Amino acid sequence: MTHKDFIPEKEPKHISSGKAAWQSPSNIALVKYWGKRENQIPANPSISFTLTNCHSTTTLNYSRRTEEQKAEDFEFDFYFEGKAKEDFKPKIQKFFQRIEKFCPYLKDYKFEIFSENSFPHSSGIASSASGMSAIALCLMDLEKELYPAITDEYYCRKASFLARLGSGSASRSIDGGLVVWGEHDKIQGSSNEYGISFPFAVHDIFKTYRDTILLVDKGEKQVSSTVGHDLMHGHPFAANRFKQANENLDKLITILESGDTSAFIKIVESEALTLHAMMMSSQPYFILMKPNTLQIINKIWTYRESTGIPVCFTLDAGANVHILYPEKHENEILEFINNELVVYCQNGHYICDRVGDGAKKL
Ligand code: DP6
Repeated sequence: MTHKDFIPEKEPKHISSGKAAWQSPSNIALVKYWGKRENQIPANPSISFTLTNCHSTTTLNYSRRTEEQKAEDFEFDFYFEGKAKEDFKPKIQKFFQRIEKFCPYLKDYKFEIFSENSFPHSSGIASSASGMSAIALCLMDLEKELYPAITDEYYCRKASFLARLGSGSASRSIDGGLVVWGEHDKIQGSSNEYGISFPFAVHDIFKTYRDTILLVDKGEKQVSSTVGHDLMHGHPFAANRFKQANENLDKLITILESGDTSAFIKIVESEALTLHAMMMSSQPYFILMKPNTLQIINKIWTYRESTGIPVCFTLDAGANVHILYPEKHENEILEFINNELVVYCQNGHYICDRVGDGAKKL
């Protein structure tokens, strides 16, 4: 499927009002998306674990507008945790503009969007992946009412496609397990336009992987992801970085099947540090890690060296540290976190998460 397939051809049914609700998870990338082209096309393919506990819950109420109202701009209200949130509206407005061609019914309805996150509001955890995928899924619910013939496959693909136009990483928050977004020559069916479930065999160890997120800095990021992606244009290392991401994904195909955690760690930690190296070597340059981020990384390395437990870290575009490890080591790692790492977390906060099944209709 390509973007052309996502433009509805038939006349929609007449639906006067309704409601849709979805719970959609966050995800953590193992091979990172950093750099994009026009229309949210990624500069390289990425792969992520879908999470469970960090999620957004979104309800969409829709009611049909009169013929005169339809000629006007989109009409919607956005509520975050029960309160009207004006500063989020421009993001949704931009999202609606981007997807209007594919959802020509948007101006036919007035929307009320209610969203909340399972994770603390200012935790430094990006809510764009879970939030945008949840809205995209709610819109697909409406689309299914309007065009009842659409298949489940179309529904999921288009939800990921729309989510991508809201925020790139959101395209990886529809399906569960491991999700690939971006074309890769060894991964059949992979697409720059939407995410797909990783299509190869996965060793059991990776099916129940744990992700404990250490909240190092809950403040607002100084540089947004959107600005960071943009700085990859003309970046001196861009071409090599995009090539490396393709190679790392290639290597992961075998590693994910064999369950080789040492090889997994080498790729995942290198990806995290390379992401931040790109930030540190762009013009203008910037640093999102904090001193405590580095303290934690060093402690993980020492712990891994002395215990042989295959625990590793990854980073998002921020200072928080995601600690990844097999389920069977959960007790030891939580003890290690409580004994040695919690001092580096703001107010001692961390969130226990795990690989999950993907978005759920409510
Ligand atoms: C570092 O998806 O937030 O988390 O497409 O501009 O909304 P936009 O960017 P976004 O970028 C996420 C970048 C990342 C890596 C990743 O998740 O792959």
